[in-house]
Amino acid sequence: MNISALSRTARAYTPVSELHAHAEQLQAQPLSDLLNSDSASAQKRASSLAFTFGTLHVDFSKQRVTPHTLKLLIDWARSCGVEPKRAALFAGEKVNTSEGRAALHMAARWPKGKMPPRGMETAALFCQQQRARLADMVSRVHEGQWFGATGQSITDVVHIGVGGSDLGPKLISEALADRPSHAKVGVHYVSTMDGAQLLPLMEHLNPATTLLVLASKSFTTADTQFNVRTALAWLSDALEVDIPTVCRYQLVGVSSKPEKMTEFGVPHVHQLVFKDWIGGRFSIWSPIGVSVAMQLGMKAFDELLAGAHAMDKHFLDAPLEENLPALMALVGAWNCQFLNIPTHAVLPYDGRLKSLSAYLQQLEMESNGKSVGLDGRSVAHATCPIIWGDVGPNAQHAFYQLLHQGVHTVSADFVAVASRDVDAPEEVSEALAAQEQLTLANCLAQSQLFALGDDAIPPALRGHMAQGYRGNHPNSLLLLKELSAWSIGALLALYEHKVFVQSVLWNLNPFDQPGVELGKQLATSLYELLAGEAAAHKNVKDPSTEQLLSKINEWRQ
Ligand code: F6P
Repeated sequence: MNISALSRTARAYTPVSELHAHAEQLQAQPLSDLLNSDSASAQKRASSLAFTFGTLHVDFSKQRVTPHTLKLLIDWARSCGVEPKRAALFAGEKVNTSEGRAALHMAARWPKGKMPPRGMETAALFCQQQRARLADMVSRVHEGQWFGATGQSITDVVHIGVGGSDLGPKLISEALADRPSHAKVGVHYVSTMDGAQLLPLMEHLNPATTLLVLASKSFTTADTQFNVRTALAWLSDALEVDIPTVCRYQLVGVSSKPEKMTEFGVPHVHQLVFKDWIGGRFSIWSPIGVSVAMQLGMKAFDELLAGAHAMDKHFLDAPLEENLPALMALVGAWNCQFLNIPTHAVLPYDGRLKSLSAYLQQLEMESNGKSVGLDGRSVAHATCPIIWGDVGPNAQHAFYQLLHQGVHTVSADFVAVASRDVDAPEEVSEALAAQEQLTLANCLAQSQLFALGDDAIPPALRGHMAQGYRGNHPNSLLLLKELSAWSIGALLALYEHKVFVQSVLWNLNPFDQPGVELGKQLATSLYELLAGEAAAHKNVKDPSTEQLLSKINEWRQ
């Protein structure tokens, strides 16, 4: 046997090459073949691809997978060491190798009184202590015992942070505080560095009763520092007290850098700390969630953590064959790496989840949007797809046309909520119930049409309806029984562990983000230039940026 024949044989036995060969076969078939409802095997296939976990139901049956695909994918996961690496993650090993840190966000939701895995004990204890401090602060605010600089009780919280210090809390606030009258205090999120979100708040909030939460893991992010500076100037001016006094009464800090909080002027009693072994995009469970707790109360915040913890236990204990995060990771990797689908849409069919795609964009793309492996070598295949999306019902009237009849194939997660508990007069409740049904019907219809295309047209209507629906967009449907704190906690932890499993499959470090640094450095020197510090000029390297700078300067005169 010559060398190339030998290497062909060797390739034929790797799980990856088997998956490539299998993908070639399966891709030749329309997705509707797998979903042919007349056959008993199609029924059996569909039921074997649907999983219920508590109030969460995940249906992979519109994915381009067969039981054989799953078997090959699971073999691949085992060959990559998903199981020992999962154990290492929970045991607090330094899985974030570039920064020499563990990744123990699960410790932040480990319940008091339940034994954590060996290696997580100290981390879980530290998180529980901080949670107790957070609960104290929350109850002081709720009982009207937190007084601002002029002696009035707090009514509103302005949460200032960006990225992981903003997206998670904002998502949960929007998802669970749909009835503002149920909120204990008003919570407002400020992230954009331009001050545009602060301006309207400064106009309508009462400065005497507003508490600022400065949320920044590093405590150095310029976006947040500039926003807080403006907010402090507003409170100082409006209340006629100096900035240190505002900080003493109306500023809470959340960070992994207590010394920086102290230097800034955040009083020790108003500091909440999380450690550097919780990544920013995994930090909603840590004191970064303080504003959510202020808004909804500790009971809801604890339920959020309980849902996430239940998913941790499932991820840790369930065999890969029925392990939801592992299956979701494998299906996702199958779509982008083997079926060559470069983008993945997140389509929530519930307006309360309008920030879900933004949250998942950071979680997935900042984690696995990388092309150099843990071994320092370039990865020779697709990794994380581009995550995008919007609220499904609105997107139907915007970009679905391209998905149905354009030229691109996407994969998608539809997310729907089965029922909503509404406390309203009978007629209003009935009207809202009809809206709920309408939304669910649209979600199911679109998921079907994504997969089947023209084959979704009922036989009686064929020939009477426009055709040319491409279909063949593999998609999953994630159904929440209700949008409770528990179910959204479990949902987000499901995605977190999905990201981890994919990082193992692709041999990436999902816990660092070196690719965001250079942009920050370039912006710093351009900022200096705009601020009139001529020395920075030498850093402007290209004529395009030079001419834009000239135009900006001309218009800012
Ligand atoms: O710019 C990326 C990033 O570092 C994210 O990873 C992080 O969530 C965000 O900035 C905010 O960082 P910090 O919480 O340190 O202000």
